[in-house]
Amino acid sequence: MHSGNSQLVESLLNSATQRADQILRKKSSASTKGTLSISTQTTANTKQESPQPIHNYGKNPAITTTALAHLLWSHVLQDATHTAVIDATAGNGNDAVFLAQLLFPNLSNDTAQVSTNQLLCLDVQERACQVTEQRLADLLPQSILQNNVQVLQQSHATFPDSQGPVSLVVYNLGYLPNSTHLEGDDAPDKNIKTNTQSTLNSLMNAATLLQVGGMLSIMTYPRSDAVEDAAVHAFCQGLALFSSQTQDWRGMFTENDNKNHPDLALSPLIDRTVKQQIYFNLEKVLHALGSKSAWRVQEYKKMGWIDSPILVTAFRIK
Ligand SMILES: C[S@@+](CC[C@H](N)C(=O)[O-])C[C@H]1O[C@@H](n2cnc3c(N)ncnc32)[C@H](O)[C@@H]1O
Repeated sequence: MHSGNSQLVESLLNSATQRADQILRKKSSASTKGTLSISTQTTANTKQESPQPIHNYGKNPAITTTALAHLLWSHVLQDATHTAVIDATAGNGNDAVFLAQLLFPNLSNDTAQVSTNQLLCLDVQERACQVTEQRLADLLPQSILQNNVQVLQQSHATFPDSQGPVSLVVYNLGYLPNSTHLEGDDAPDKNIKTNTQSTLNSLMNAATLLQVGGMLSIMTYPRSDAVEDAAVHAFCQGLALFSSQTQDWRGMFTENDNKNHPDLALSPLIDRTVKQQIYFNLEKVLHALGSKSAWRVQEYKKMGWIDSPILVTAFRIK
């Protein structure tokens, strides 16, 4: 290239880089406005020298329900041994990878490794199972994959026999979101999604498998399925009421009791059929675990975000 031209190109490049820098800095300071740790660092001098850090809050449990769910799982699985975990909606394998890191920590790939923990991942879609399996294979030693991990293409409505003691069953309801982990150009089919009846059956089976000190974790999406969300809430509220001193869980299903306890009333979205499914599934849990089982149930949602995903956890204390 002619040297005059190359200088011109270089100077154009320089000014473009400087302009891009300025835009990035502006964006960064706009997006962090009001954040104490950032705004107090901004002085006339630093503005020139160092670009503002761009924060990624995605992993902060105070910001996203997924990060909060992961934090709660890590509490349940602290020092986990001789226990099984079920990812009932494997999807793109993000949750499965996180669970595998908790269940099989400090493993290296070079020797045969042994663990007493088990991870079971279920999904109705073949491509979800393939992606999850591949991501686990990239992470775990072969011996662990073979002996301690199962990825099954089947509905979570029922679980395979002989799970042994289960300490955590996790659900991320809804449909398979698009992801860089999926092969091919086809977007996933959003019509293949969890549904109220199989979700309720699954929660009932999961609750009966769960050991004391174990937890159900359910991410629901009221925007995409308000009835399923309401049914999950009602089922888990029923679990919470098993050990209530003041309110019989069956009262949730009778109008008179609901007048006395409006906070416990079922959502109007729940029709007669779904009501019956919730009732019978709660009866089955009670029958399987006995009347002494006790649960502590919480929900976590973003305030001010209409229809934000909601995390519901049901922790078995007795
Ligand atoms: C929101 S995605 C799960 C995301 C996943 N946990 C992750 O970390 O990537 C929901 C998944 O549930 C699956 N699914 C729908 N109905 C199901 C059922 N009855 N049993 C098991 N999986 C189901 C869908 O195929 C989809 O992959």
